[in-house]
Amino acid sequence: MGFDQYHEPPDELPEETRTFARLCASLTEEAEAIGWYQQRLALERDPEARAVMADAVGEEYKHFSMDLEFLLRRTPIWREIARGVLFQDGDIVEHGEAAEAAAGDEGDGGGGTEGTSGDGSLGIGSLLGKGRS
Ligand SMILES: [Fe+2]
Repeated sequence: MGFDQYHEPPDELPEETRTFARLCASLTEEAEAIGWYQQRLALERDPEARAVMADAVGEEYKHFSMDLEFLLRRTPIWREIARGVLFQDGDIVEHGEAAEAAAGDEGDGGGGTEGTSGDGSLGIGSLLGKGRS
């Protein structure tokens, strides 16, 4: 049994950090599975086998997306940056740079696992030390 998702002693980590690490590990595993299915589908010629694998990779897309959504909900600044990058047309790198700049890059890097603030905002304003509406 492996506990590779922990980089620090697990018994010293808060429960929510252990949960977060588990979902990060799961996200990685889903991404690996997607990559493996892409390779298999690129080579497989049997239509029935391709249909089975195409169905399976759809499950992996779903799993990856659910893992990502969980992690983004628990990390407001990550969610804010992702909001500026995901599902946008145009230059991915430019969107990434702009989203990072808009969210700020101070403090602990936003790596906390706090949820949304009580007022329903993402809490980015408090991370930047200034109010936002
Ligand atoms: Fe999966």
